[in-house]
Amino acid sequence: MTLVYEGKAKRVFTTEEDGVYRIEYKDEVTAGNGAKKDSMAGKGRLNNLITSKFFEKLNEEGYASHFISRLSETEQLVRKVDIIPLEVVVRNKAAGSIVKRLGLTKGQAFEVPLVEFYYKNDELNDPIITEDHVKLLNIADDEEIKALKEQALIINRILIRLMEQMNLSLIDFKIEFGKDKDGTILLADEISPDTCRIWDKATNENFDKDVYREDTGSLIDTYTAFYNKLEAL
Ligand code: TMP
Repeated sequence: MTLVYEGKAKRVFTTEEDGVYRIEYKDEVTAGNGAKKDSMAGKGRLNNLITSKFFEKLNEEGYASHFISRLSETEQLVRKVDIIPLEVVVRNKAAGSIVKRLGLTKGQAFEVPLVEFYYKNDELNDPIITEDHVKLLNIADDEEIKALKEQALIINRILIRLMEQMNLSLIDFKIEFGKDKDGTILLADEISPDTCRIWDKATNENFDKDVYREDTGSLIDTYTAFYNKLEAL
């Protein structure tokens, strides 16, 4: 089957069925838009298992995504969508880039979750953009921007509840959306420790890619520990 897209962490292939794609999770791990890069055996499997589980949980809550089913340890079947070139970031507590950008204290809780848009463009280093920029770039109109924000906040509520059940705190996460052939906006891409910040409620220990970004522990051990918690739900 034809390779339609290859990113840093995944490959996307056509299938025999029209409108259905197969996603293969790779063992590559990157940080800082590819500035730091490694291959780690088993990383693709973990992110596929974790993302599949999250999408299944969202489905159970009545929230549909592009996810159809998990095909194997490293592959999923998904509905074909055209990815909207936005990284939608939701933040419940300050961490990562917002700490540097606005001089906030790491761990500071936000009264209401913050939604941010980043322009998905590797050459430009995925800059943060305003809603007016989103419209200027013809990425989405007012109605679609409203829908993206509403959906991001719904997903946040569901994920927070799941994390609570694991005694974990959802600090922030990044999601991507796509449009199917009818123009319906669907959650796409992945939800994994690569794309979320997750802290232990008691100790603030990281269960996410910050262990790799900051060289503070084993990524595989961390993701395995997170997967075991998620599996036990
Ligand atoms: P940031 O603090 O670096 O802006 O990241 C916010 C959240 O978004 C964090 O959970 C990591 C995730 N993220 C991605 O998944 N991909 C990216 O390219 C970036 C910049 C962040």
